[in-house]
Amino acid sequence: MSNEIESVLIENRVFPPFENLVQGAAISGMDGYRALCEQADKNPDEFWASLARENLNWTKPFSTVLDESEAPFYRWFGDGELNVSANCLDKHLDTPTADKTALIFESDDGKVTKITYRQLHARVCEFANGIKALGHKTGERAIIYMPMSIEAVVAMQACARLGIIHSVVFGGFSSKSLHERTLDVGATLIITADEQVRGGKTIPLKSAVDEALGMGGCEAVNHVIVYKRTGGQVAWQEGRDLWMHDVAANQSGDCTPVAVNAEHPLFILYTSGSTGKPKGVQHASAGFLLWALMTVKWTFDAKDSDVFWCTADVGWVTGHTYITYGPLAAGLTQVVFEGVPTYPDAGRFWEMIQRHKVTVFYTAPTAIRSLTKAAESSPDHHPRKYDMSSLRIIGSVGEPINPEAWMWYFKNVGGERCPVLDTWWQTETGAHMITPLPGATPLKPGSCTLPLPGIAAAIVDEAGEEVGRGKGGFLVIKRPWPAMIRTIWGDPERFKKSYFPPELKGHYLAGDGAQRDQDDYFWIMGRIDDVLNVSGHRLGTMEVESALVSHELVAEAAVVGRPDATTGEAVVAFVVLKQALPEGEEAADIARLLRAWVAKEIGPIAKPKDIRFGENLPKTRSGKIMRRLLRVVAKGEAVTQDVSTLENPAILDQLSQAH
Ligand code: WTA
Repeated sequence: MSNEIESVLIENRVFPPFENLVQGAAISGMDGYRALCEQADKNPDEFWASLARENLNWTKPFSTVLDESEAPFYRWFGDGELNVSANCLDKHLDTPTADKTALIFESDDGKVTKITYRQLHARVCEFANGIKALGHKTGERAIIYMPMSIEAVVAMQACARLGIIHSVVFGGFSSKSLHERTLDVGATLIITADEQVRGGKTIPLKSAVDEALGMGGCEAVNHVIVYKRTGGQVAWQEGRDLWMHDVAANQSGDCTPVAVNAEHPLFILYTSGSTGKPKGVQHASAGFLLWALMTVKWTFDAKDSDVFWCTADVGWVTGHTYITYGPLAAGLTQVVFEGVPTYPDAGRFWEMIQRHKVTVFYTAPTAIRSLTKAAESSPDHHPRKYDMSSLRIIGSVGEPINPEAWMWYFKNVGGERCPVLDTWWQTETGAHMITPLPGATPLKPGSCTLPLPGIAAAIVDEAGEEVGRGKGGFLVIKRPWPAMIRTIWGDPERFKKSYFPPELKGHYLAGDGAQRDQDDYFWIMGRIDDVLNVSGHRLGTMEVESALVSHELVAEAAVVGRPDATTGEAVVAFVVLKQALPEGEEAADIARLLRAWVAKEIGPIAKPKDIRFGENLPKTRSGKIMRRLLRVVAKGEAVTQDVSTLENPAILDQLSQAH
């Protein structure tokens, strides 16, 4: 790790904040930033309590702030009550925001639909009333498996309005993944669409739900509500299946929001960990909403005149925090996009920024890297072809952004006038944790810079001791914060083990390696566990391995990540078959078969880019697979490490040649 770290830290470029953004910023100048940090450090309870009082509407005020009595199961504002949807919609109804555009939806084929806050409120209420009329109650769980749409936002908000806990499953996950999540979360309701449309292609969703429910054990699901997106053919089970427009029809546009306890789960979102089974990350209502809103205000320096565009899918946490909740709570106008960045061509994002006059743009390094490639090879799709002068802030999320991609984004998209905000956070943290502030923080390409006020980020060694500047270690958060994960749904032990290992003195373990430079800036070095980051999507190596070995041809599999210029990391699988080592055409056929199998088991995002067959895997004499060596082999490099502890050193040659 040390070599990588040193090479990253030879970064001398520093970009001071732009004067026009310092003026009038929510947090203005480094003095403003430091003053807030000091306040938070001196009296965290008071800091968080005053933010929560000033920024959220409570139906019952809280009197306790942080309750640590059952640490690490922390509770925040534990005797307060509110409703999240009321804090996103109703609160605007008596203000000029009511008739402002809330969502500018653009479909895959370019059709634009706008909806105001007042209209969105009515849509959410009608749908919530419909769900209520079906008999669903506060505390039940709903799976949402939908394309990017106004309807997806309506579905999530309607659940929040009723205190129904939603669990959104990304539309790219397979029916098998959907089945696992439906079972684990104990869903009674599924909200989906007939089909989704991406890049000119339709992909069925309802049939995947039917398949998932057909796998058994999901008897608790008594309704499947279907948004009619394309009008494509769907199978129908009378009594269980209902059209979304029918559920909402003739319902009142007023639905009293259910006041829930601050700690009532708002949602459960599954994410990959270091074992085969994804974890259901549980978030609480008040704390999550507070930080979603505060980070929209602070990080994105939200202004009433902004047109905000976060390109994430609501199937990931970024879409929860920076589409469904944060921007609405802040009363912003935002773009919601159904499609992909390369359809009809690689100029789509830039053309949309121009046409919708987007002011704040938030995307992933993967998108930036692939659009860079496209722009450099076809000048027509270069951002310079478009008028992007509306932009004032551009952000990045999901994976480390390498300095080259950062500079390209800064120059070509931001026109050297917009700060690049490299925001570090996770599904578990709820919202931004370490990020530059547009009106305060000097930027360094490749660094997520400094923690937000109230976030006690640090880097420690195996014993939980802080390491000095320039030393690599584990990224931890030393104090609880309101938007933190509350538990893993149904598995509190795993929650404790994963995030609060005893040797780390009660610090939250993020699972990332990091180090700080001479200015105390944070540099994220990537995951320290068996989690891969492919195109900004989290993927457990064990998840992919379990999928592979569940195929009848496979005896054993080991999966590692390989650095990839576009997707950040690529999945490389080393596979031992039950049959003799295949060669040539046969090997190619089996590899194709296994890739399709993984897509079916998990989803297309998990497909290995490269599958290599061997007669065995490199193992220690005690039988442990040496993934460290496989990572070297996957990169196509020669193994220079000592392999004397290997039981079968010759296997490395075979696997290297299998390429
Ligand atoms: C990685 C996405 C470097 C990191 C919001 C983290 C990042 C994981 C950054 C969480 C960043 C996210 N720089 N790495 N700015 N942002 N990551 O849960 O490894 O899908 O642990 O949340 O993505 O991924 P998740």
